[in-house]
Amino acid sequence: MSESLSTVAYLGAAILFILSLGGLSNPETARRGNLLGIVGMTIAVVATVLGPRVTADGIGWIVAAMVVGGAIGLYAARTVQMTQMPELVALMHSLVGLAACLVGFASYIDTSIVFTGAEKAIYEVEIYLGVLIGAVTFSGSVIAFGKLSGKIGGKPMLLPARHWLNLIGGLIVVALCVVFVRAPDIASGMTPLLVMTAIALLFGIHMVMAIGGADMPVVVSMLNSYSGWAAAATGFMLSNDLLIVTGALVGSSGAILSYIMCRAMNRNFLSVIAGGFGTGEGAAPAAAGAQPAGEVQPVSSVETAEMLRGSQSVIIVPGYGMAVAQAQHTVFEITRLLREKGVNVRFAIHPVAGRMPGHMNVLLAEAKVPYDIVLEMDEINDDFPDTDLAMVIGANDIVNPAAEDDPASPIAGMPVLQVWKAKSSIVMKRSMASGYAGVDNPLFYKDNNRMLFGDAKKMLDEVLAALKG
Ligand code: TAP
Repeated sequence: MSESLSTVAYLGAAILFILSLGGLSNPETARRGNLLGIVGMTIAVVATVLGPRVTADGIGWIVAAMVVGGAIGLYAARTVQMTQMPELVALMHSLVGLAACLVGFASYIDTSIVFTGAEKAIYEVEIYLGVLIGAVTFSGSVIAFGKLSGKIGGKPMLLPARHWLNLIGGLIVVALCVVFVRAPDIASGMTPLLVMTAIALLFGIHMVMAIGGADMPVVVSMLNSYSGWAAAATGFMLSNDLLIVTGALVGSSGAILSYIMCRAMNRNFLSVIAGGFGTGEGAAPAAAGAQPAGEVQPVSSVETAEMLRGSQSVIIVPGYGMAVAQAQHTVFEITRLLREKGVNVRFAIHPVAGRMPGHMNVLLAEAKVPYDIVLEMDEINDDFPDTDLAMVIGANDIVNPAAEDDPASPIAGMPVLQVWKAKSSIVMKRSMASGYAGVDNPLFYKDNNRMLFGDAKKMLDEVLAALKG
């Protein structure tokens, strides 16, 4: 394939990626958006493999690597549970970071690339930045994977004087960059590059270890953004325009998503980047005195069906437990039945419900719940006082009144769905266990709340049977 043909193919792929991102911003066009992305990526891969920079001997290696990588990807995509998706995404981000690091080192020791003067300095700064961003993304994503999969505890690890450590590390990295660019040959440049890589790896670990469990959603989207910048840096090192454009698209959309998540959780965007945010500078999680007191009032599935039948308006709040139980199809059946009986049923979606952005929207769309009754938190939060029954399905942190009432709570300040303001509420979960943030929930003990204990799918099947009966 000639140089100009591959440029045209790259341009087409870049346009498809932009259209793909546009499509993904709305559930109704998301499927098409995904398809456009797949077509764009296929064009990009074919244009690169057949492009002018790949020699005939190299194609065999590339195809072999693609077969191995593709097989692993296919296996992971087929076997991963929907609830494990965020950990898989974190793991994928770590691979982008690792690739940027490896490409950086490979580019540096590649003696066939000869630059002089300013061009050499620019090229070496590109390498340095690529390895730096790549290493932070790699180690940060590996720790995020560990935290999301429960292999590493969710509690924030806060080193004393951690901001000073970060600052000193940052200054050393800048100083090493000067030493690296001034190095007369590859051998003497290798030491500052390796030392910087070690600092960057430690920085990534430190940054994510300092994050409390409840704030992990922001970290995942932030690492998504970092992985984009790492890819863009790789594009600069390889002089590949498409990789630069794609990396910038991922980097900036990830940054926008991080900003949206920060707003949703009432966290400061800049303190996220500094690490250790949302921990109230080390405030003990869930102050002991703040434990809610009182007794919970259990309810049966038959009574739940009666309460649903007797309501004019119902708001359903789905959470992580609905995803675990795969209860969305039964939820849809119950919704359809109630709507047929004239009950006004709507869904309230918290921005960080579940374990990944849009988690609940994806599940409800899969179950064919109409989009017009699925509302974002800001659209529906004021409607709870006029609602007869709020039904919480496997959600916990996102309906915790302590976020508003208890300044010592680790989730203090996070906007939540004000379920307790409804005339009555039912919380469905298996036990009194806490949610992701590990804090007790005073909602469970409110006078107008009932608890329906059991697996969400099993209990909803019983509610559906009672409603039909
Ligand atoms: P959580 O606060 O984690 O609560 C989920 C509840 O579901 C648990 O208390 C659990 O109680 C219950 N549950 C689990 N399996 C169940 C089953 N089979 N049937 C019925 N209930 C079940 O979830 P949430 O309210 O959706 O809030 C999300 C949390 O995750 C937030 O803290 C958020 O910050 C964090 N997070 C979100 C994201 C994104 S981007 N969405 C990413 C990472 C972390 P039992 O064990 O008693 O059943």
